[in-house]
Amino acid sequence: MPRVTVLPAGLVLEARPGQTIMEAAREQGYYWPTTCGGQGICTSCTCSVEEGADALDPMGPAERRTLYAEFGEAQVRARRLRLACQARVRGDVAVQKRGVRQA
Ligand code: FES
Repeated sequence: MPRVTVLPAGLVLEARPGQTIMEAAREQGYYWPTTCGGQGICTSCTCSVEEGADALDPMGPAERRTLYAEFGEAQVRARRLRLACQARVRGDVAVQKRGVRQA
């Protein structure tokens, strides 16, 4: 199963292929910051991809629209930002996200 490493805490989550990062975290008993409940509109779940960007499904138009509106295209590209509630895992990936903790 793909593994999602969450920094700086160093958590390692197992994800089923096609599961979002946030779904994987919740399923394994972790809280992932959110205010919209995973609908792709609040950006509270935003993480930056440190390694394995290609192991996530490409960003869809709705995710792109939400991230660009909040952070601007340049920041999204430079920091490799993704919405954890939308980004689907296909292989091993490492992301930066503060505030992920045991639920
Ligand atoms: S949880 Fe709100 S955008 Fe991801």
